[in-house]
Amino acid sequence: MAIDNEVLRVIRARRSARIFAEGQVSPEQLDALLEAAVWAPSGSNSQSWLFTAIQNREVLEKLNDVVREGFERYVPEDDYPGKLGAKERAKQEGFNFCYHAPTLIIASNRPNYENAMADCALALENIFLAAQSMGLGSCYINQLYWLRRDEGVREYLSSLGIPREHVICSAAAVGPVDRDFPAPPRKDGTVNIIR
Ligand SMILES: Cc1cc2nc3c(=O)[nH]c(=O)nc-3n(C[C@H](O)[C@H](O)[C@H](O)COP(=O)(O)O)c2cc1C
Repeated sequence: MAIDNEVLRVIRARRSARIFAEGQVSPEQLDALLEAAVWAPSGSNSQSWLFTAIQNREVLEKLNDVVREGFERYVPEDDYPGKLGAKERAKQEGFNFCYHAPTLIIASNRPNYENAMADCALALENIFLAAQSMGLGSCYINQLYWLRRDEGVREYLSSLGIPREHVICSAAAVGPVDRDFPAPPRKDGTVNIIR
């Protein structure tokens, strides 16, 4: 019989949320999300990550402006289609790179560390699953990674306490949700078992 339990149900139920409801992640919920992050595994137990949680609406708006400017300045016209699409969207009125989520958690890591991205990605998945377990929505946000070398983005992130030399790995948008999000079907043929 197939094994089923609460953890497996949370893993299956997690979806990328791109529409958030009114409200904020509570201090207790934020603590739980950040605790989940730091309990992730890390290469050689390095734990060299930094999780910067932003809940201030004005800061998030300013960061969105900085991201929009960064797309214009930093993404060249011959970049790959996914990024050019994002650059086009960033020009549109109402664009918000983290879908107006009330909380954004930015994961950065020390430079010249081969496992920087792997460690942060594992921590982010912990955040996503913890969010799901508390009835919150979440989404992986890649824009700050794309723009990690843009001067304007770095300048603003450093004013928020993210060291200049840190690699910006990724970010999690988190917030209350009031709807279900459809699950993209999983592709066949992606598992190989040798017994
Ligand atoms: C490395 C990575 C980068 C992603 N970047 C973004 C992003 O910038 N914006 C976004 O809306 N979703 C982003 N996603 C979410 C994926 O689009 C999403 O996980 C995928 O469509 C499957 O949907 P699900 O998460 O609901 O299962 C990213 C996911 C990963 C793993």
